[in-house]
Amino acid sequence: MTQEFSAILIEWQKRHGRRDLPWQKSSDPYAIWVSEIMLQQTQVVTVIPYYEKFLSAFPNLEALASAPLDDVLSLWSGLGYYSRARNLHKAAKMLANLGKFPDSPEALSGLPGIGRSTAAAIAAFAFSRRAAILDGNVKRVFSRFFGIEGHPGEKGVENRMWEKAESLLPESEIGCYTQALMDLGAGLCSRRNPDCAKCPLNSGCIARLSGRVHELPQPAPKKALPLRKTTFLVLAREGRLLFERRPEKGVWAGLLCFPEADPSEFSESEKLVAFVHTFTHFRLEIEAVLVETGKHREGIWLSMEEALASPIPNPVRKILDRIRQPFP
Ligand code: ADE
Repeated sequence: MTQEFSAILIEWQKRHGRRDLPWQKSSDPYAIWVSEIMLQQTQVVTVIPYYEKFLSAFPNLEALASAPLDDVLSLWSGLGYYSRARNLHKAAKMLANLGKFPDSPEALSGLPGIGRSTAAAIAAFAFSRRAAILDGNVKRVFSRFFGIEGHPGEKGVENRMWEKAESLLPESEIGCYTQALMDLGAGLCSRRNPDCAKCPLNSGCIARLSGRVHELPQPAPKKALPLRKTTFLVLAREGRLLFERRPEKGVWAGLLCFPEADPSEFSESEKLVAFVHTFTHFRLEIEAVLVETGKHREGIWLSMEEALASPIPNPVRKILDRIRQPFP
């Protein structure tokens, strides 16, 4: 499988992959490094004109290292994520002092702005080093092809993917293979519009074979919403129920609702129903207590029919339904 995976991709890259991108014309590590930094958060089409202007202004490491930071930032203007430009400039000064461009992923990944995947890409493209990349697009390819569950941002999932990435590396043609993975992830195996019919890996892709292409990779788990509690007092008198109008601001603004009450004042037998209602920013555990009263109290007294025809929030409707059909 390992051999097959890389062999299929290399073959596909030779026939269908991008081979005319400006940074592919060069094996100059400086030029490749600049391109990989620009491509970290920006798409190829946007990068191309910036890359060309940048390399004309700073054709080599020494030119970049001796340039004022403002000139570097000006040429970056419009690309966004300006810490990339600052780090590039800082690293250029460090490398100029070093006098030699590091050729190992380990040495490269210590430089400002160069993480593990970018270091591997530079080492593979510029020095044909067998090093594994794992950016967001590649994570999507792996998660689909191998049916890897879980969000790739989780450490455990990411570690599994790094192991996969290392184990799949071909013996030769590492540059071609690396570009193939990048191109497949950015193109055919896109997040929203994957084109499985054209994918060279389709016959072994677990997501495709199990109909889960749009479910993988799994999104980040939703943050647990805070839980609040309230008790609704359902006061009943002579066939009518008591409502209050909610304030014009906040939850259920302006709707009719049961008064809220202190739960400690009621016995178990008065408890009617309890459930959780989910809002966008919190969950509300609602307990309703039903109390028959002889006393009058200020408020809006409505028959069941009137209440159901009034502007009431869903949880109130749910409680009314429960009163009408106590044992569903
Ligand atoms: N994304 C990151 N590096 C890339 C490269 N070398 N070619 C295309 N897309 C990329």
